Amino acid sequence: MPLDPAYLATAIEAALAAGRIHKQFFRQNPEVQKKGPIDLVTAADLAAEQEFRALIGRRFPDHSVLGEEGASGAPAVSPTRCRWIVDPLDGTTNFAHGLALFCVSIAFEVDGTIEVGVVYDPIADELFTAERGGGARLNGQLIRVSNRATLLDGLLCTGFPYSIRERPQRQVEVFASFLGRARAVRRLGSAALDLCYVAAGRFDGFWELQLHPWDMAAGALIVSEAGGRATNYSNQPIDLFGGQIVVSNGCLHEDMLAIIQDAAR
Ligand code: IPD
Ligand code: CA
Ligand code: CA
Repeated sequence: MPLDPAYLATAIEAALAAGRIHKQFFRQNPEVQKKGPIDLVTAADLAAEQEFRALIGRRFPDHSVLGEEGASGAPAVSPTRCRWIVDPLDGTTNFAHGLALFCVSIAFEVDGTIEVGVVYDPIADELFTAERGGGARLNGQLIRVSNRATLLDGLLCTGFPYSIRERPQRQVEVFASFLGRARAVRRLGSAALDLCYVAAGRFDGFWELQLHPWDMAAGALIVSEAGGRATNYSNQPIDLFGGQIVVSNGCLHEDMLAIIQDAAR
């Protein structure tokens, strides 16, 4: 049965609303709190998630919401058949430092399958959308992954979790291996945008350890719908709660997995 178009429409409406909130606070010295030694949350993260929860509560009161900023203090909501997974501001460190690389990421899940993914970068005004089986789009135009066939021709991207300071060694080794094999490796600081950039063919591959469901749920669907591959480090389907993700244009996937697995030995 085709998905009710109201879900994609709601995700887009909510993403644009979050983008407006980001822009109100961006470079206005927003209040910043620390969740950990280097893990920040700003007034914009909190306001965007609050507005998202209010919209879903009004429109779909029987749906649950899994959001990055929702857990603290609030009673745990058990997942329902229909669940929204939201990162109200992905790239908070960039945002807090006035660096214009951040977005909102919204996914809609039915019975454990992500059906809709929307990522919006309000500064570039880039809206990435996907519905399962319907392709991936950037501002309404279909997008495809690249067709670069060798790592040497590939531009890759990665990210590091906030816990990197505790055990950096393995992740630094993987990073160094890729530096020795690819054209270049970037670290932008917004996993959801990194994924969309693979979908749009700007990057040829991306990997990261210890991501959260809200970092990757929307972007992983957008990559798959753009013709790319998305797996965990063992070449299995992504587990949103498993942390690991490797995405690529497909051509580079095996090579990327081999490098990651080599470094683990
Ligand atoms: C972070 C960003 C970053 C990634 C971190 C994430 P946040 O999300 O996506 O690129 O490397 O692992 O936690 O905290 O900015 O929403
Ligand atoms: Ca995030
Ligand atoms: Ca976030």
